[in-house]
Amino acid sequence: MNNTTTKSAIETMKERHSVRKYTQYDMPQKDLQEILEATITAPSSWNLQHWKFLVIQSDSQKEKLLPIAYNQQQVVDSSVTIAVLGDLEANHNAERVYGEVVNKGFMTPEVKEILTNQIHGAYTNDQFARDEAVMNASLASMQLMLAAKDKGYDTVPMGGFDKVAFRKEFNIPERYVPIMLISVGKAAAEAHGTLRFPLDEVVTYETF
Ligand SMILES: Cc1cc2nc3c(=O)[nH]c(=O)nc-3n(C[C@H](O)[C@H](O)[C@H](O)COP(=O)(O)O)c2cc1C
Repeated sequence: MNNTTTKSAIETMKERHSVRKYTQYDMPQKDLQEILEATITAPSSWNLQHWKFLVIQSDSQKEKLLPIAYNQQQVVDSSVTIAVLGDLEANHNAERVYGEVVNKGFMTPEVKEILTNQIHGAYTNDQFARDEAVMNASLASMQLMLAAKDKGYDTVPMGGFDKVAFRKEFNIPERYVPIMLISVGKAAAEAHGTLRFPLDEVVTYETF
């Protein structure tokens, strides 16, 4: 459970389960940093990187989070809970992302202009912007959980929290939509068993 160099990505995925009981453990900042560094290597639409992470690790902030997370004890007992937020205005990142691409000589300014106009056009649709925020921040969330597992931590993702109260208590700007909370820490008890539907029930080839 502790290290990782010998473990394959597939083994890490298979070993990851949602742990809800944690021992008190001060996660070294270096581990948190490495987990987050791995998290942000996630792919994203147009490379707009539609994510922000709010790290909640002080006792006082954890206590504020507890009732908002419907008293799920893991937000207090784990080392840290990371709120993953999706960016509803990720189109504003286009200038920076594609400016850099042009600077490196991988794209002409004319192509950049066309592309960024397309992106801004797509973002006039609020539903699209929201779908993109949720989809891309969710990809980062999965990376976070696997990176944590690889470093010897367990996690539990949580959609069960009061999003309105969370936004208010933690001053989340309107631009960001709360996607999920992820508690990260050292397991005190194993995850309870969960089933997966068999592959042949969930995979269809070529067409429905
Ligand atoms: C988006 C999402 C929201 C979830 N919300 C909660 C939650 O609020 N509380 C909780 O205890 N588990 C939550 N879970 C964990 C699921 O119950 C768990 O992933 C599922 O039962 C499969 O079990 P496993 O993760 O142990 O393999 C959530 C999982 C996901 C992906």
